[in-house]
Amino acid sequence: MEALLKVKKQIKIFVEEIGDKKSIELLTLLSEGKMLRSKLILKIAGISDESIKLCAIVEMIQSASLLHDDVIDEADTRRGKPSINALFDNKTSIMFGDILYSKAFTQLTTMDKNIAYTISNSVTLLSVGEMMDVDLTQTFNTSYDKYFEMIYKKTASLIEASAKAAALLSGKDEEAFAIYGKNLGLAFQMIDDILDITADSATLGKPAMLDFVEGKVTIPYLLLHERIEDKERLEKLYKKPLNEKETQWIKEQMIETKALEDSVKQAQTLGLEAIEAIKEYNNQDLENIMSDMINRSF
Ligand code: IPE
Ligand code: IPE
Ligand code: MG
Ligand code: MG
Ligand code: MG
Repeated sequence: MEALLKVKKQIKIFVEEIGDKKSIELLTLLSEGKMLRSKLILKIAGISDESIKLCAIVEMIQSASLLHDDVIDEADTRRGKPSINALFDNKTSIMFGDILYSKAFTQLTTMDKNIAYTISNSVTLLSVGEMMDVDLTQTFNTSYDKYFEMIYKKTASLIEASAKAAALLSGKDEEAFAIYGKNLGLAFQMIDDILDITADSATLGKPAMLDFVEGKVTIPYLLLHERIEDKERLEKLYKKPLNEKETQWIKEQMIETKALEDSVKQAQTLGLEAIEAIKEYNNQDLENIMSDMINRSF
């Protein structure tokens, strides 16, 4: 059986173990993600019962974080379908998120202590990162340092932990793979922030052009703000619902100032640093994960 299919089966088994009909129903409504973290783990650690279990745990954590994130961001679409908060309500999304998080932690107790620590600690960072993300929406953030710290915590930490845990599982250099995962994760969130501007909602499977409206000054907006002459015009649009003309203007300025282009370059640079960290392993698959991730359209 294909490995990712095994991961999905394992998630279903874990949720069935909870013994709650509603949880099983909600799981079927979640639909599939890209499973980037699982692909990473499997490419590093290979396919075994333990690596499949680690993937299932990480994907449950990933889904839980999105269940909470869609409440936080008031997003009505996820993975091409109505989000759980849209289908039911915020309460259901939060509670099912809690169920998936805690079940994942329960299963982690059956794994190596170092792996359990690495993964669970990253979820604390992820949660702190989500809180920072929200706090940064209070005023127009112009600090790169704050942006980098926030995306490290909310997104890169779990990817870093996944790569490190996979290395621990397979006796590889965990520090090198942690660096790979961290840089991959930072680049991954930057691309997510770029796609919010360049992609449409249908392709993304989640709302597009939502970040700036929600007060998020992501990497392309940081660069745009720094470079644009009419800063006031941009600042006036901050946290406002955008009409077609305003959206177009932002996109044009993003291209004219090369804010988008240079954001992609920054992500590419991080991608190269990631590959550099594990070059002695000569793992083409891990290089492909990186380039597919940078070049993705959703
Ligand atoms: C979404 O993660 C949240 C971010 C960290 C940007 P993914 O883009 O990996 O989401 P799925 O699991 O594939 O849906
Ligand atoms: C990443 O941030 C969310 C998590 C790490 C849980 P976003 O809010 O940008 O993620 P999307 O764009 O909704 O997937
Ligand atoms: Mg979101
Ligand atoms: Mg968010
Ligand atoms: Mg996003």
